[in-house]
Amino acid sequence: MREYRTDALPVEERRQDPAALTSCRRPIPTDQVHPLPAPRVQDAHDTPGMNGQRTALITGITGQDGSYLAEFLLENGYEVWGMMRRASTENVERIAHLADRITLVQGDLLDQLSLIRVLEEARPNEVYNFAAQSFVPTSWRQPVLTAEFTAVGVTRMLEAVRAVDPSIRFYQASSSEMFGQAAETPQSETTPFHPRSPYGVAKVYAHFATLNYRESYGLFAVSGILFNHESPRRGIEFVTRKISDGVARIKLGLSTELRLGNLDAKRDWGFAGEYVVATWLMLQQDEPRDYVIATGVQHSVRDFVEAAFEHVGLDPDPYVVIDPDLIRPAEVDELVGDASRGRGELGWEPRISFRELVEMMVDSDLGRLSTGLPASARAGEASA
Ligand code: NAP
Ligand code: GDD
Repeated sequence: MREYRTDALPVEERRQDPAALTSCRRPIPTDQVHPLPAPRVQDAHDTPGMNGQRTALITGITGQDGSYLAEFLLENGYEVWGMMRRASTENVERIAHLADRITLVQGDLLDQLSLIRVLEEARPNEVYNFAAQSFVPTSWRQPVLTAEFTAVGVTRMLEAVRAVDPSIRFYQASSSEMFGQAAETPQSETTPFHPRSPYGVAKVYAHFATLNYRESYGLFAVSGILFNHESPRRGIEFVTRKISDGVARIKLGLSTELRLGNLDAKRDWGFAGEYVVATWLMLQQDEPRDYVIATGVQHSVRDFVEAAFEHVGLDPDPYVVIDPDLIRPAEVDELVGDASRGRGELGWEPRISFRELVEMMVDSDLGRLSTGLPASARAGEASA
């Protein structure tokens, strides 16, 4: 097993990780809100450097996990390429601080030829397929598009790997959402799937497509079944970030309510910066195998709300409003993972606790939102 470094985590998150305090080659901005220059997008005529480094391609590099994995791989000596889809506005806030160290190339999971071209340009040793329509409620509103991105898009990516270089090691971002109405607790690699959303259904397709390409063609193709993982870079619509942002706004006097749906849902929440290390570990094994990655600790949405309000010294009751429009057509009531295979074979352990995660996210949103506010309203100076 190769040794690896985790000290590339941005300062805000690294301070939670004692083992990562040992060194930091250069300061990395905490978060995504700064108007930094955009990374260069590779055009078809550029030639990638050939210096003997290991090369990784991350699809979905503009997302939460893509940005953390890019940092981790750079810190561990990789040449990092990121695939992003074309947009009329820049969407690189999470990776702007890596601008001069990664190569971005345009491609879309909907476009088979674009995937082949991306692989031909980047010539990666490893592909991390993080790209997906990942927000569960959107999957009821756009079920066909979700299937095109999140399900069939994976077959397109696997076909591209076969066509360009079958020796590429391929990681697929599977999800605990596949367990849905879970048949047993906790959930492990052998728990049957019963997805409860079009997103979950699409992920099950992608999961079995990855397994099938491993069995049919001998690809080193693995799925990581990751339970919910969060961070200050989490999309604002996911419940943890919605809560941390909402609590910070209330604390700073910018808002008077936090509208939520089902507070009784239970999840196994970990820190995204640690989970991407597990994805890398999966591709360093001798044999391809699927792994559950989770903390094994379950909390309700209500627990998250209470911990976040408590952190800023407020009582949630006057502020939290239950909005029936936010209740899902079919809910995943509770998830909690058994990651013992990953602990044993990958040597992976989560370190950030639930409470540390909540506080990290609330502090980050307080810091972000208080920029530009009068000193009396800033985080740390606001009274409870
Ligand atoms: P995320 O923040 O929503 O990022 C998704 C990424 O996919 C974005 O970069 C997005 O690009 C890209 N993308 C979407 N459609 C695309 C398309 N058609 N072609 C190319 N790129 C496309 O998600 P995340 O939280 O980082 O999660 C990463 C992966 O892990 C996802 O597959 C997710 O389903 C899976 N997963 C996440 C969790 C979790 O708790 N976070 C748990 C289990 C599994 P734009 O920026 O252009 O939208
Ligand atoms: N988003 C959201 N907004 N969820 C809410 C709200 C709200 O206002 N109120 C309650 N919830 C509940 C949802 O009903 C759900 O039970 C739980 O909070 C978590 O919702 P999300 O944070 O949206 O995450 P998710 O569990 O549905 O999906 C995430 O985790 C999956 C892994 O299990 C996503 O990251 C998926 O992409 C990922 O695969």
